[in-house]
Amino acid sequence: MKRIIRTALVMSIGLASTQCNTAQQGSTAPQTETAEQTQTTAAMGRSTADPRMRQFVDSLLSQMTLEEKIGQLNLVSVGFDVTGPVVSENVDENIRKGNVGGVFNTYTPVAARKLQEFAVNNTRLKIPLLFGYDVIHGHRTIFPIPLGLSTSWDMDAIERSARIAAEEASADGLNWVFSPMVDIARDARWGRIAEGAGEDPYLGSQVARAMVEGYQGNDLTQYNTVMACVKHFALYGAAEAGRDYNTVDMSMNRMFNEYLPPYKAAIDAGAGSVMTSFNEINGVPATGNRWLFTELLRDQWGFDGMVVTDYTAINEMIAHGVGDEAHVGALALKAGVDMDMVGEVFLKHLKQAVAEGKVTEEEITTAARRILEAKYKLGLFEDPYKYADEQRAKTTIMKPEYRQAAREIARKSMVLLKNEKQVLPLKKTGTIALVGPLAKNQRDLIGNWSGAGDWKQAVSLEQGIRNVADSSIKINYAKGANITDDEQMIQRLNAHGGELQIDKRSSEQMIAEAVKVAKSSDVIVAVVGEAQGMTGEAASRADITLPGKQRELLMALKKTGKPLVVVLMNGRPLALAWEDENADAILETWFAGTEAGNAIADVLFGEYNPSGKLTATFPQVVGQIPLYYNHKNTGRPYNGQLLDKYKSRYMDVTNDPLYPFGYGLSYTTFNYSQPKLSKSTISPSESVEVTVNVQNTGNFDGEEVVQLYVQDVVGTITRPVKELKGFEKISLKKGESKTVTFTIEPEDLKFYNNDLDFVLEPGEFKVYVGTNSRDVKEASFTVTE
Ligand code: NOJ
Repeated sequence: MKRIIRTALVMSIGLASTQCNTAQQGSTAPQTETAEQTQTTAAMGRSTADPRMRQFVDSLLSQMTLEEKIGQLNLVSVGFDVTGPVVSENVDENIRKGNVGGVFNTYTPVAARKLQEFAVNNTRLKIPLLFGYDVIHGHRTIFPIPLGLSTSWDMDAIERSARIAAEEASADGLNWVFSPMVDIARDARWGRIAEGAGEDPYLGSQVARAMVEGYQGNDLTQYNTVMACVKHFALYGAAEAGRDYNTVDMSMNRMFNEYLPPYKAAIDAGAGSVMTSFNEINGVPATGNRWLFTELLRDQWGFDGMVVTDYTAINEMIAHGVGDEAHVGALALKAGVDMDMVGEVFLKHLKQAVAEGKVTEEEITTAARRILEAKYKLGLFEDPYKYADEQRAKTTIMKPEYRQAAREIARKSMVLLKNEKQVLPLKKTGTIALVGPLAKNQRDLIGNWSGAGDWKQAVSLEQGIRNVADSSIKINYAKGANITDDEQMIQRLNAHGGELQIDKRSSEQMIAEAVKVAKSSDVIVAVVGEAQGMTGEAASRADITLPGKQRELLMALKKTGKPLVVVLMNGRPLALAWEDENADAILETWFAGTEAGNAIADVLFGEYNPSGKLTATFPQVVGQIPLYYNHKNTGRPYNGQLLDKYKSRYMDVTNDPLYPFGYGLSYTTFNYSQPKLSKSTISPSESVEVTVNVQNTGNFDGEEVVQLYVQDVVGTITRPVKELKGFEKISLKKGESKTVTFTIEPEDLKFYNNDLDFVLEPGEFKVYVGTNSRDVKEASFTVTE
């Protein structure tokens, strides 16, 4: 038996609790009748332990009736974005009665102010409302979808996108954003893979932290910061078969090592709120799971913020089969949930539940306290209208500087998947056949969950080409195909704002026209992919190839013999075996946001050298899913021998991905030296340095994401074949070399064993450094007993 070096679970109090602004003067405890009257200009403390906040909230709670406390636990949807089967009713009346703690889906300073005034002026205690919204990848200025943000591997860029989103949202009436979504996803069928940072817990944790810090800054009371909401706690991305809302069943080992780290990172970064997930965990729906919210989140991780359910998630526990409405309401409260989104189960049942002894008034007070504390931390008691500022909205929203940032960030998110014979970058002159259903498209460019984004503001690729290329460039356009011809799919997409423009011509006619324009051009740029509504919530697909007749279009274009550049717009890894074999170049652009067209054109014409790297594996075929780089070896690993039958393999496809995690090309090439270690043997408390020299050996200046992976070769439980433990995005001029040094700390070598101790087990560790998770150079070291 190996000796195990244990570390106790590190308790995190989170940044929020360390942000006390002790420099504020003279706190006044609330003495009088209403919250408004008892606002204190000095109420700046951020921590639950902050005595001024404690005193303020205690005083307020002491004035509240049981009904008023229950009212604080109710979150209603007011506005247009419906994301579930039920909508909130009688909102005015409920607000007036003090039955509402917060609203979501209302924005603009005018609308938010009106509603806030209504709440403050018509309720007994004048408690202001929270204003939440799904600000997911930008608020008005839209950035690439989160999966695209993650492929930039640029944490400053990601944080900046969240910062800009917070600036815009906080001027537009909002103080709470339902982001970041940090669910690890290994199944590209799941439409919500678009909303997260992909498959890796290490990268996912960095992204989680960057987003929380971007939204919240370091002081939530500031007028331009908003409260983040980490979601969906927990494990939502592991839905069986990639079908949304489906069952999750997972070992604790996988949970702690592979799925929980990004949530934890977001909590450690000080996220003010957490949203429950729709799935069950170990047979108990997350929303009623006391282990999850009380033991793990609060007791072990030290989370001191508020927990909101996902949309009607309490009610949905009835369908899960764990009890009737009254019962599941009590279950959720007792689990540690504070706020009920849309379902109104708390509102309907908690009073009676107290009477029947199913919950205690103290439990309700605790939940109400957390909501009031969030409001206090946001500074709403000082000024309920600070987030609804018409003047600031005018000067902030979509300012040129933000659009410029959106363009820069979008360029960084694009992944060059193939570039045979350097067909890219394109010349800025000559004739381009611009073909495909997404070539002139604007609607889809802002992607799914683009809340308050206006797609009419999005720059199409056609426009982008005109902006970036020489004015002499000739564009021969043909649509070539519809995104899909599936009538039912079109109906469903259009029922939810898809606005799919369907060309009624036959596909033969459309393809013939495209072939014709291709023949009279120097190069084909085929812009294909998905409609934005094919990913996101409730948008799982069982077939993840290009939808409709788009592959047929590409096949016909290929036959013209003209160089074929495929520009992809989509929200998930696709199965692109044919495209990979036949296109000359493939550029993955995701849904790149408001500045998509300009950013893509920048990449196509070499104004920007692509540097994005995949954060989710692209399979060859859908049947390989779940396919991820950090898998286990199994007892019968397949080593590529055709006749090796009794191995963990398929008969009809290799185990290899089409494009592995971390993969992405550049217009230049990089050469990696053999990695060198500072020591070949270390003690369990020591760190080891890994250095590698990277040289730009091609003809362009460029950026490279240098990636470090570690493998714990022998463990008391099986360990993945590789795990990302570091990366650095460097910029190298043509011919330039740089030495990159990574420090592997003992913490990087630890994992949760089956007793859930976070341990470092002595023995051999392999280190892999390279340009992606597959193409790496190796070294190894030993940790002594
Ligand atoms: C349901 C989604 O699962 C969640 O991500 C979102 O924040 C809420 N609806 C609110 O719109």
